[in-house]
Amino acid sequence: MAKVLLLNGSAKPNGCTATALQEMIRIFEEEGIQTELIQVGNRDIRGCVACNSCGRTGKCVFDDLVNEVAPKFAEADGLVVGSPVYYGSPNGTILAFMDRLFYSTSFSKHLKVGAAVVSARRGGNTASFDVLNKYFTISGMPVASSTYWNQVHGFTAEDVKKDLEGLQTMRNLARNMAFMIRAFADAKKTYGAPEMEHEFFTSFPDGK
Ligand SMILES: Cc1cc2nc3c(=O)[nH]c(=O)nc-3n(C[C@H](O)[C@H](O)[C@H](O)COP(=O)(O)O)c2cc1C
Repeated sequence: MAKVLLLNGSAKPNGCTATALQEMIRIFEEEGIQTELIQVGNRDIRGCVACNSCGRTGKCVFDDLVNEVAPKFAEADGLVVGSPVYYGSPNGTILAFMDRLFYSTSFSKHLKVGAAVVSARRGGNTASFDVLNKYFTISGMPVASSTYWNQVHGFTAEDVKKDLEGLQTMRNLARNMAFMIRAFADAKKTYGAPEMEHEFFTSFPDGK
């Protein structure tokens, strides 16, 4: 059974971001896709210190939720990252988490479907959305889209429930993601995954 992991960057397990993610979960369930929602934003997650010990050990030096989620991400067919907008950016906790999750893991993320979801009272949505999508687009992960940029508006969960277009965007996003996950699984069987080259790390002529 296909599986989607959803991360909630908000400290509030029943807040605005959670309301958007729950709307997606409802559709994933209808589509027969297994889900796991992980509450990230109320945890004490520090940032990456660039020690590069993960390059030797395959896991982050700080043994916390990042290392717990890493094997789940390795197994998942899709990843949704949700965040409230703080001062026009994703919130600090989810950024610290995503930096460490993506940097410390060496398994292939190629063709896992990614989607970013943001929740704002009023502004900074699209800038935050762009930041979160960058984790996917450096990792060979196709990005699912919807009928608007993936955002809801509100200060409370009750506000988001009134954002009918925002919730519609979440439902359509989940349907597109479910379709992409199934289509990629079929295409991998038929054509195999495209080859990825990793030989070059810089663009200097001497390769250093
Ligand atoms: C520190 C902080 C900064 C915020 N900055 C913004 C902002 O730049 N733009 C905005 O529209 N809302 C901002 N908000 C409001 C939240 O993003 C918004 O209420 C969001 O929907 C809350 O989601 P949650 O309930 O999932 O935490 C901010 C809230 C906090 C606590």
